[in-house]
Amino acid sequence: MKFLTVSSKETRKKAEVLVLPYWQGEKKAVAAFSKEGISTEILSLLEKDFKGESCEILTSYSAEGLEKRILLIGLGSLSECEGNTLRKAFAKVTDFCRKKKWVTVNCFIPQEWEGEILPILDGFSMANYTFDKLKRESLTRKPSIFLESVCLIGQKNIKKQIASLEHWMEGVNLTRNLVNDNADDMRAKDLVEVAKHLAKEFPSLECTILRQKELEKEKMGLLLAVNRGAEQEPALIVLHYRGNPKSNDLTVLIGKGITFDTGGLNLKPTGSMETMKTDMAGGAAVLGTMRALASSSLEKNVLGVVVAAENAVGSKAFKPGDVFISREGKSVEISNTDAEGRLVLADAFSYVQDNYNPSRMIDIATLTGGIVVALGEEVTGFFSNSEGLSKQLLEASARTGEKLWQMPLFPEYRKGLQSGIADIRNASTNRKASPCVGAAFLHQFVKKGIPWAHLDIGGSGYLSEATSYYPSHATGIGVKLFLSFLETV
Ligand code: BES
Ligand code: ZN
Ligand code: ZN
Repeated sequence: MKFLTVSSKETRKKAEVLVLPYWQGEKKAVAAFSKEGISTEILSLLEKDFKGESCEILTSYSAEGLEKRILLIGLGSLSECEGNTLRKAFAKVTDFCRKKKWVTVNCFIPQEWEGEILPILDGFSMANYTFDKLKRESLTRKPSIFLESVCLIGQKNIKKQIASLEHWMEGVNLTRNLVNDNADDMRAKDLVEVAKHLAKEFPSLECTILRQKELEKEKMGLLLAVNRGAEQEPALIVLHYRGNPKSNDLTVLIGKGITFDTGGLNLKPTGSMETMKTDMAGGAAVLGTMRALASSSLEKNVLGVVVAAENAVGSKAFKPGDVFISREGKSVEISNTDAEGRLVLADAFSYVQDNYNPSRMIDIATLTGGIVVALGEEVTGFFSNSEGLSKQLLEASARTGEKLWQMPLFPEYRKGLQSGIADIRNASTNRKASPCVGAAFLHQFVKKGIPWAHLDIGGSGYLSEATSYYPSHATGIGVKLFLSFLETV
């Protein structure tokens, strides 16, 4: 979808529908168009049928003008209108237009609107996605329709914001596509190909890949253990983006890339395994972020790391009760093969900390089902050892609407990880506070002095049902959060 702009309504081109935002009790947008043959009918309808409540829609035909239809979108009261009100409302407009097969939109944003433009662009874009690759019959019967162009009328100087959102959305949609695809088509080697392809497309990205042999040389015992049951080799994918070569500052993003999580020999039951192709959503978010960074040429240095492996079952699979040596040196008793995400991440942390000099390190992972129990499907739980980093992430969350909620890193959570036979074990024997125990495990692999945050997207990476502005299935969560965050470091 393309965004266009014109500063006044006189210069707009034809479109299938004219969208007029309507704040409860304010008729500015409508009034601005009242000479175009719509005023009397619309205004009288308005008084009767339309209150302008949040996400309320009213459509009408217009006899004159450049658009044959008018769509009023309610935004609630102006004083209560915030970013997510706008995202929800404009996503609703996208949904509505796609259902009606209207693909070109003119949208008036009154000059009086002094709020942010980004959530409006975001709302239009977020809902303009459906994953069609795996459809056959239904696709010929009912092909998905996408908005093609949205022309914003009445705002000046928003070209930069439009360009950056368009780059961001390319990243978000790449992430969604990777997560939604079949697990068997998105193996470690497929993620490697995606990364290599990105490095080819964007010379600012340098790609380093470690496969089985190199990982063995690196003694990444935990990552290798997790992948033992799988047919495919695991991979550590590193994309280095040097947007500011003069600076030594380096943000490291590390994504869990379990391409399928059966649970391993601690096999997941029916009802828990069906969505596990999405267990690489963290890794996919890192790839999406790197793409958007490179295409928007942000002047920051970022290392994007994806730890790709499959947690499969079979005679070669790693066994509960056995002990493996991590790259960092600690021995780890496997108390549960289903707590595999923390194992692969721990080895990746160690590799990154020894080979680079991270100014800050953020991992993103579908680490626990417990985070869904705690926060629901739309919220990411985050843990951090740094107040400054937490603050910056929360601010980015407020700007992008990707909800974050801070969870505790109390040292007491380490108690459940004590092992009688090894230095540490990978999970406690009960499920109490599992997201916090998972974070406590990861924390023990973070070197002192490195600001670190862990984002548990076990709930927010994938939605079983569409919400106001997320389509069902992969959300692409993390990408916009990272990009907005990176602008501020
Ligand atoms: N990939 C899962 C977490 C998950 C579950 C994400 C459901 C999204 C939806 C992870 O590897 C896992 O299985 N975690 C276990 C940890 C436990 C064994 C300590 C969990 O959450 O049950
Ligand atoms: Zn698992
Ligand atoms: Zn997992």
